[in-house]
Amino acid sequence: MRWQNDPHRYSSPSIAMHWAMVLLVVAAYATAESRDLFAQGSPQRDWLACAHAFAGFCAFVTVFARLALRAGPRPPIVPAPPRLPERFELALCVLLYAFLVAMPLLGWLLASAQGARIAFGPFELPALVPPDPALAQRAQAWHEGAASVGYALVGGHAGAALVHHWLLRDDALRRMLPRRRRR
Ligand code: HEM
Ligand code: HEM
Repeated sequence: MRWQNDPHRYSSPSIAMHWAMVLLVVAAYATAESRDLFAQGSPQRDWLACAHAFAGFCAFVTVFARLALRAGPRPPIVPAPPRLPERFELALCVLLYAFLVAMPLLGWLLASAQGARIAFGPFELPALVPPDPALAQRAQAWHEGAASVGYALVGGHAGAALVHHWLLRDDALRRMLPRRRRR
């Protein structure tokens, strides 16, 4: 177990946090996109709404933990990639962080304005605003719009990681993968 980034790889907590965040974001999308399979007011749909909020809030907490771990030098990519795409990827990364912080806050605002119960697992969170149908409509449009942008950001980010691995053949992705156990 390595608690610090080393020159070849992210630290174990940083790697664990990254892949946990991936699972949570996928779960948040899956629970939201599958809700229309069930009728409004059905127990399954209510369960999906709770699971959606839970995954979203956990992603929110995880992103701050990962940001705290990010302090300190990043392991350099070997061999060094061209500079321009690297700057573009850094910008993508900043947008990804902004998305991961904004999405749960917008969801919280939306649920508050809808007057819905805001559960975070066994806890109930306070409403950010009193019920307000007009604000709920706007917040829903913002949350949905940001979700569409999120698909593009996540797709671009994962695509870039695969380009590094398969085309540039550097260690960008390997730095973020758990180390294989030696026999
Ligand atoms: C990473 C975090 C999140 C992601 C990626 C996400 C994604 C989504 C998506 C894709 C939708 C469906 C939009 C559509 O219909 O096109 C949605 C709806 C919704 N989300 Fe989130 N969400 C996140 C966090 C949250 C959080 C923390 C809450 C807090 C309660 C929340 C509350 C809602 C609500 C209330 C809806 C609308 C459901 C409805 O009225 O039908 N979301 N979200
Ligand atoms: C929901 C999906 C994902 C989210 C939200 C996400 C989020 C993030 C974030 C916030 C970072 C930190 C960037 C930084 O601090 O510099 C990161 C780094 C990274 N991610 Fe992801 N990621 C996702 C999916 C993936 C996938 C599918 C792959 C691989 C195919 C991947 C590979 C990487 C790599 C290699 C890095 C290190 C980038 C570098 O330091 O150069 N990610 N990811």
